Amino acid sequence: MSELAIIGGTGLTSLKNLDITKREVVHTPYGEPSGPITHGVLSGKQVVFLARHGYGHTIPPHKINYRANLWALEHIGVKKIIAVAAVGGISEELKNGVLSVPNQIIDYTGAREHTFFEEGLSHVTHVDFTEPYSEDLRQLLLRGCQAAQLEVVPHGVYGCTQGPRLETAAEIDRMERDGCTLVGMTGMPEAALARELDMWYATCAVVVNKAAGRGTGPITMQEIEQTVKQGMDRVRLLLEHVVPML
Ligand code: HPA
Repeated sequence: MSELAIIGGTGLTSLKNLDITKREVVHTPYGEPSGPITHGVLSGKQVVFLARHGYGHTIPPHKINYRANLWALEHIGVKKIIAVAAVGGISEELKNGVLSVPNQIIDYTGAREHTFFEEGLSHVTHVDFTEPYSEDLRQLLLRGCQAAQLEVVPHGVYGCTQGPRLETAAEIDRMERDGCTLVGMTGMPEAALARELDMWYATCAVVVNKAAGRGTGPITMQEIEQTVKQGMDRVRLLLEHVVPML
C-alpha cells in the first residue's frame, strides 16, 4: 500500500516515469473524485497519482471536488501528499520555469466546499492552520531539488484565487501588498482539507507565467503552454529524486 500521493495540476495529468500497476475507482460520501486513482511505482517506491483537473484536464479550479479527492486518498491509506501546482509569479525572483516550495497561504477563494466538519458533529472542530504546509515534507522537497540540482525558491506565500479568470493588475498589486509571492487557483481548500484529515501536505509550485501586470502585456496561453512543459519536466525530475527519500 502506498502512503504517498502526488496530485498533479495543469501540465501534469500523467507521470511518464510512473510504472502503472492499477487504476482504482473510489466513490466517496462527497461525490466523485477528479478521476480514478492511479497506483504505480516511481523510483522503486509505490506511489499513487491523481490528476486534479481530471485526466483530460477538463475540470476548472472552482469545479474540482476537493473533498472527494482528499477523502478518496485518505480512504485508500495515503498519509502524505505532494501537490504540484502551476502558478503565476508575483515576486521578481519567481521567473518563468522556477520552482518554489511555499510555506504560507492566503485564501481569496469563495463558494467552494471547503471543510469536512459540517454535519453530524459531536462538537465544533477548529484545526490549527498556523503553518499550512507540512514542514517535514517541505524540507524533503527542498532536499530533492538539491539532489536533482534544480533551482528552487525555498519559501513563498501562495495566494489562492477563485478563478477561472486570471487576476487584474490591481488585484495582483493588492496580493503583493498582502505578502503573496505567487498566485494559483487550486491550493485551497486542498491544503486545509488535508490538514483536517491530518495528512502531511506540501506544494511544489511551478511558475508558468508572470502574474497580471508583472509582464509586458496580457497573459497569453502561448506563454503558459511554453513554460508548463519545461516546468513539469523539472517536476518529474524532482519527484524521481524525492520519492526515494520518503
Ligand atoms: N493566476 C492564477 N492562477 C494561475 C496563474 C495566474 O497568473 N498562472 C497559473 N495559475
